Amino acid sequence: MAPRCDGLSDAAMKDLMAQAEKLPISTVVFVVALQAEALPLVDKLELIQDDKPPFPIGMPWIRFYGTYRDLFINVVCPGKDSTLGVDNVGTIPASLVTCASIQGIRPDLIINAGTAGGFKAKGASVGDVFIASSVAFHDRRIPVPVFDLYGVGTRKAFTTPNLVKELSLKVGNLSTGDSMDMSPQDEELIIANDATVKDMEGAAVAHVADLFKVPTIFIKAVTDIVDGEKPTSEEYLQNLPAVTAKLTQSVSQVLDFISGKCLSDL
Ligand SMILES: *[C@@H]1O[C@H](CO)[C@@H](O)[C@H](O)[C@H]1NC(C)=O
Repeated sequence: MAPRCDGLSDAAMKDLMAQAEKLPISTVVFVVALQAEALPLVDKLELIQDDKPPFPIGMPWIRFYGTYRDLFINVVCPGKDSTLGVDNVGTIPASLVTCASIQGIRPDLIINAGTAGGFKAKGASVGDVFIASSVAFHDRRIPVPVFDLYGVGTRKAFTTPNLVKELSLKVGNLSTGDSMDMSPQDEELIIANDATVKDMEGAAVAHVADLFKVPTIFIKAVTDIVDGEKPTSEEYLQNLPAVTAKLTQSVSQVLDFISGKCLSDL
């Protein structure tokens, strides 16, 4: 068996991970794309902004941190585009900030929290909070054998049956793409992904977390109904404040549940 770069065999690594699953969760990293989504959480948990975050100098990425109950909480955001001043949404910034955060903060658990579009045909309504059971991409079409599957990149989220039951959260599949609107081709793949919610970061966070084997859960609050009458961007902007408040409330309930528990209790 090939040793890993850290000198552990695959078997030893598995052992270590099994042991870690039995220790209480301590360090949590929230990956949050929009500062408008992050700030209510930062306020609620009384986190402070790190003026020397563990990221390469000059990066726009932002980290807030603090303790909540017995958890060491970090909220990381990809920050703003230096030219346009808007949040760095989408898969590339989300991947980069997730990678840097895993290396710099070494979380036991990643939580990708944010807003999403929902499909009423799959039972979503505005204000619903979903836990994703699996995540996949809908805008990486590579019609070549096996590359097609790579493009879709389906990954299972860390399963949290007890959390879902205790907090009565809805469960659905999440589909990720770099566009906020939905082309007919995207729609076809979203249906193939059996997705209830659609965002612009989840599957990218999952890809990076999977490389480092960090368990990851996805909490997505629905701001707009994609298969409804209203134009997505209008509905999104109108509902963002109220839905973000709902997301913050769910996230703090999730933290109350996680506190003192091991990964295997979730
Ligand atoms: C998620 O996708 C899988 C595979 O397509 C499907 O079997 C499952 O029913 C979906 N889950 C939900 C909650 O829609």
